Amino acid sequence: MSLLPYALARPFLFGMDAEAAHELTMDMLARGQRTPLQWAWCNETVGDPVQLAGLTFPNRVGLAAGLDKNARCIDALAAMGFGFVEVGTVTPKGQPGNPRPRMFRIPQKNALINRLGFNNDGLDAFIANVQRSQVRAQGNLAQGNLAQGKPLLLGLNIGKNAATPIERATDDYLACLEGVYPHADYVTVNISSPNTQNLRALQSDEALDTLLSAIAERREQLATAQGRRVPIFVKIAPDLDADQIAVIAATLQRHGMDGVIATNTTIARDAVQGLPHAGETGGLSGAPVLEASNAVIRQLRAALGPSFPIIGVGGILSAEDAVGKIRAGADVVQIYTGLIYEGPALVSRAARALRDMRR
Ligand SMILES: Cc1cc2nc3c(=O)[nH]c(=O)nc-3n(C[C@H](O)[C@H](O)[C@H](O)COP(=O)(O)O)c2cc1C
Repeated sequence: MSLLPYALARPFLFGMDAEAAHELTMDMLARGQRTPLQWAWCNETVGDPVQLAGLTFPNRVGLAAGLDKNARCIDALAAMGFGFVEVGTVTPKGQPGNPRPRMFRIPQKNALINRLGFNNDGLDAFIANVQRSQVRAQGNLAQGNLAQGKPLLLGLNIGKNAATPIERATDDYLACLEGVYPHADYVTVNISSPNTQNLRALQSDEALDTLLSAIAERREQLATAQGRRVPIFVKIAPDLDADQIAVIAATLQRHGMDGVIATNTTIARDAVQGLPHAGETGGLSGAPVLEASNAVIRQLRAALGPSFPIIGVGGILSAEDAVGKIRAGADVVQIYTGLIYEGPALVSRAARALRDMRR
């Protein structure tokens, strides 16, 4: 049980600009982690192990990418009860992202819009932070260490720099893959942010084929050289039609990818039409993306068969939403916006509900 009820912190945070609140929270987590202050947000890590992509996930609730882009707060996040934490997106070089303001709350719909644009400190700083985390420093890979003694999996999410032309995107992904590989339980190839020009074009037939073929080849080299085959997941958008999803599913399987993360934020605005900030450019997350993500997950499950790993993300604001995502076909789930609206207690609530589904 956390000592600080989120209901007390939320009005204070929501009184601030969204990105300022985010930065303040991340600073507090970074400073407080590995100290007694951690009890302020600490939660039970529900034990509900599941085997997926050759890994043992301690429970079925993970943190989605983008909250901790620089991997500064891994230990603090681990203490919230997640079974797995995904940090990044990291790009080869540090970059500032888009001009501010670039993150907006739509509280009437439990939603956010962001157009951050992969603001991050770059690969070297990212890896140094990962190495400093207790989860990594104390344990072997895939045997990290939580306060409660349960292993936590660490996903490292990679992307491309804004300044890299899209035709050279593969170079950026390969540079990041090589850098993060020794430190990751799994690597996520993010080709679905709406905030980097043309990034989503990498989801289409030929571009996806070229990218994944290069990634698969480099992964085999790294696996041979390092004696460890790290699973690779590909993260896709909710704004895809059935034909595109079918092609993506076939391409993932053809290149031996180990899983798919569905989905990123949406560029659709129907669900928030007319509300303040609804007209902001960027990706919409939270409750309005739940159904669109679930629809993609259902189509992926039908196309990929029962055993291909699907990580479901988008719009989980309650334990029931997490259960619904598993029912749609996901094996495990991730949360981002739900954490902003509901606080860390949502993590163990959702994990308990998923554990109880099995009983
Ligand atoms: C502010 C913000 C930043 C994000 N940054 C990233 C990112 O860097 N990489 C990524 O793969 N997804 C990123 N995402 C997408 C989330 O990981 C997630 O896929 C999406 O928000 C849907 O889940 P949710 O409704 O639980 O937030 C970001 C989302 C938000 C709200």
